[in-house]
Amino acid sequence: MFTLNSPDPESAFSHEDLRAQLAALIGDERDAIANLANAAALVWHSIADVNWVGFYLRRSPDELVLGPFQGKPACVRIAVGKGVCGTAVARDASVLVEDVHAFPGHIACDSASRSELVVPLRHAGRVIGVLDLDSPSLARFSEADRVGFEAFVRTLESGTDFTSL
Ligand code: SME
Repeated sequence: MFTLNSPDPESAFSHEDLRAQLAALIGDERDAIANLANAAALVWHSIADVNWVGFYLRRSPDELVLGPFQGKPACVRIAVGKGVCGTAVARDASVLVEDVHAFPGHIACDSASRSELVVPLRHAGRVIGVLDLDSPSLARFSEADRVGFEAFVRTLESGTDFTSL
């Protein structure tokens, strides 16, 4: 059985703890869908003030397709270069958006979303998807969150076999 820390209060949250929990949750499991699904559930239950957490996977060079997530049903396909997710893939870099209404081309899957953080997921030096976090609050995510979730994704990448995706 896996015991989650409470997401509240916010001050109790630590990126280091979250990474340690991810590593424990993955254990020896290498299956990509299983690890992505548990990673999304872990983040969803560990951090406050988010309304969507999940993955989009690069099924073809030009397109992302919805992967494991927590939150409301979401847009299924996003072209590389479009929206916050597609922009992160095109740039091969994380994108931190304090106000999604000010981001040209933002794709509103949930009208409640006000800020967003997208971190690329890589395999063999190539971007194969993204971790996407949405919040109903403006400027919910900080530079510390960007750094923390980039390290979280590195832990996920190193523990997972993405060749079967
Ligand atoms: N807002 C994202 C689309 C995905 S949803 O937030 C789940 C974007 O602009 O790429």
